[in-house]
Parts: sequence; structure tokens; C-alpha cells
Amino acid sequence: MVRAHLITYGCQMNEYDTHLVESQLVSLGADLVDSIDEADFVLVNTCAVRGKPVDKVRSLLGNLRQQKAKRGLVIGMMGCLAQLEEGQQIARKFEVDVLLGPGSLLDIGAALESNTRFWGLQFKDELHDHIPPAPVGRLQAHLTIMRGCDHHCTYCIVPTTRGPQVSRTPGSILRELDGLLAAGVREVTLLGQNVNAYGIDQGARITGIPSFAELLRLVGQSGIERIKFTTSHPMNFTEDVAAAMAETPAVCEFVHLPVQSGSNTVLRRMAREYTREKYLEHIAQIRRHMPGAVLATDIIVGFPGETEGEFQQTLDLYDEVGYDSAYMFIYSARPGTPSYRHFADLPREVKTERLQRLIVKQKDWSQRRNAGKVGTVQNVLLRGDAHEAGFLEGHSRGNHPVVVPKALGADTAGIYSVKIAHATPHMLYGQIVGPDGEALPELPRLLPEAAAVSSPLVMV
Ligand code: 5AD
Ligand code: SF4
Repeated sequence: MVRAHLITYGCQMNEYDTHLVESQLVSLGADLVDSIDEADFVLVNTCAVRGKPVDKVRSLLGNLRQQKAKRGLVIGMMGCLAQLEEGQQIARKFEVDVLLGPGSLLDIGAALESNTRFWGLQFKDELHDHIPPAPVGRLQAHLTIMRGCDHHCTYCIVPTTRGPQVSRTPGSILRELDGLLAAGVREVTLLGQNVNAYGIDQGARITGIPSFAELLRLVGQSGIERIKFTTSHPMNFTEDVAAAMAETPAVCEFVHLPVQSGSNTVLRRMAREYTREKYLEHIAQIRRHMPGAVLATDIIVGFPGETEGEFQQTLDLYDEVGYDSAYMFIYSARPGTPSYRHFADLPREVKTERLQRLIVKQKDWSQRRNAGKVGTVQNVLLRGDAHEAGFLEGHSRGNHPVVVPKALGADTAGIYSVKIAHATPHMLYGQIVGPDGEALPELPRLLPEAAAVSSPLVMV
């Protein structure tokens, strides 16, 4: 029996794919083990979106090759990097035995049976209707509703690695959701490179398929308690999505809408297909339908040719929106992308200095936004034990990380009402309250201790 160990880099789509391949491996009779040392097959799920995750894969594969020489370990590589010529060169260098691109994950069985090197690089349709089993004992799950991307942002390698957009059928999505519900899942995150474009594959709507807004309403009727989704291209965000979110109680009031830059000239060089003004219109629509919406974004600093004035536009836009949180990236030139071919990279120091200024702004806004939650009661899915003994950790509907001391009668994973008492830019601290908003009487610890653990910046 094969003893397999999987290691995942990258986004939630990759986590989902790892789970999918793990379930294939188990059905083929493999044993999943928790460490490289126990394994005779190690499969690395890779990310190619920036240079850093590629470097990490390289150094991990270096270690694995040593183990291969010592004890005959079989090495596998899957995911975005595997699909690229760059990844295949790395695979040859580090003597990778099994290589599976993001569209060939179901070839894992054939790969294991093969006596020679196995490389699967085709995009196969069966994958879109393959339903992995629900995660055991977890309250949260991911559900991929589409794969690939039809946009061509000039910095992005994803359209090359994951291919054109292919939407799953609503029937297959709802069947997977039924399985998750039966397994006790209470929050689902709908995943795709651009979920707002669900059903519009290669520029045309698939006949009879619901729009993303309609899909949200459908999923909202399934009985699942909380629905989140990620990620969205602003170009495909419609007002109907904001309306569907507002009118579907299960859909959480959290929107991740990557802006990438606040400058129209940079947006044009990125081929993002919207302007700053159009983006702000979407934000206004979201706020009109959901005044309390929590907003997150992605920003790339130091895109080739970005001037100080263009960067200032990004800082201004940040203030105009007042994001709750942001993922901020330094531009990374990826071979194979149009911006790599056509534009010269900015000096490293310029990019790092801009990132530092953006981080200061992000912390400031996150602190302000989080401080505004102090005193409110949030609906929180507590996943389980936090690092600190006696505490539970989880997420609000607005996706804020939350920590609470365990309370008698509420000391395990579940969805609870939590009254927020402290806030830092990255965390809310609170205590579980009863339906009347009063703290449960049997609190084993009081809040100042929680505060001591985490040195909050804002206190009541
Ligand atoms: N360099 C830096 N960041 C990038 N992203 C995508 N490609 C690059 C790149 N070449 C960022 C974008 C995207 C997120 C997933 O990664 O902000 O939204
Ligand atoms: Fe890349 Fe744009 Fe597709 Fe996102 S939407 S994956 S940024 S091409």
C-alpha cells in the first residue's frame, strides 16, 4: 500500500484540489500519512502566481531529491507550476516522477500504476463533475464552482496554468453541497478564479445556466447557514450580485473585490478592463444593498512603470473605500505573462518602500474598522481550539478572525453569538453571549486575560 503525503502551496483552489487528490488516493487504497518521513510518495501542490512560492517549491524539491537518493522516495508535483514550461524544467532537474497539471488531477491513479515517469498536462472535462467527499468533522468547506479564467490581466499567469474558464453545472454543485450538509458542514465558500463570471464561459452565457447571483439564491435555499465566495473580478461584478447577497440571509456580508491599483493608467497597462470610477461604483452598489458590508481587496504595488503619482492614486483609493483588510503584493515578473515581455521591472527598493507605506495605511484602516466592531454582537463560527489554551478561534460572517475564551456549555466548535470587547488590526476578541446579549455566566476566564495574550491596540 502506498503511503502518501501531500503538501499544499497557494490559494484555496489549491487546498480544494489537494483534498480532491487525497480522496482519489484513498479510494485507490493509499494511506495518507502526516509527514514526509513516514511517506513513500510525496506530492507537492504548487503555486506559480509569484516568484516566492516557486522558490519555496524549488527548495522543498531539493530536500525531496535527497530522500529519493537515500530511500527511493517517489516525488510528485501538481498544480499551477506543473502546467508551465518553467515547472517542467524544475521537475526534470529535481527528478520528479509524477507531474499533474490542474486539469489532470484525476490521472493520479494512472500515474501511480505507471512504472516510468508520468506527466499529465491535459485539461480533462470529467474533473468538473468530480465530487470529493465532505471533510470529516469540519464545519467549514470549500466548493469549486468553476475552474480557469477568461481574463488576460497582463501580470497574471493563471489563465496559462488553469486554462480557460469552465463552469460546473448547478446540479453538480448542489449535489456536492448536499453531501457537505449531510456531513454537518455549516459554512461553505464557493471558489473560482472569478466566481462572478459563473456561467459566462469564453465570453458567452451557457444556455439555461443561472447567473452567479441566481446561483447564490439557489445555494441560499439549501439549508446551509453561511455562504462566502472568492474571488471576484470587478468587471463581472453586477448589481444583482449585491442584491442577491442582501436578500439571501445565509450569504455573508463580506466581499473580496481585488482592485489591484487605484490608477487608471496602471489599470490600463494591467488590462483590468475597468476604471477606478467604475470600481468605486461597484463599491457604492455593495454599500447601498448592504450598508454593513465588510470589504477586502488585493493590491499589487510597483507594477512596471508605476510612478509615484500613480501609486498615490492607490493610496487615495484605499482611503476612499476604507477597506477592512487587504492582501498586498509586490509585483513579481512572471515568465510567460505579457507584462514580463513588454515592461521593465521597477527597482526592488522602490517597490518595497511603496509596500511599506501601503501596509501602514492598511493597518490604520483595519484598526479603525475593527474598533468599530467593539461592543457589537457578531455571529462567529468557532472552528476549535486557539493556540492559547482555554480559547477558541474562528471567523465572523465578515471574515474577521475572532478569539474567545471557552465557556461552559460552549466549549466546542460551533456557531455562536460573540460580543466583541477588544480589537487589533488583525483580530477581534470577545466572549460568547446568550440570546439576550448577556455573557454566559460560567465563563472560566475573563477578558483581560485574553487581552494579555494578544496585546490589543484598542480596548473598551
Ligand atoms: N505579481 C504580484 N502579484 C500578483 N498577483 C497575481 N499575479 C501577480 C504578480 N505577477 C496577485 C493579484 C491577485 C492575487 C491572487 O495575486 O493581486 O489578485
Ligand atoms: Fe489573474 Fe485576472 Fe484571472 Fe484574477 S481575474 S486570475 S488576476 S487573469
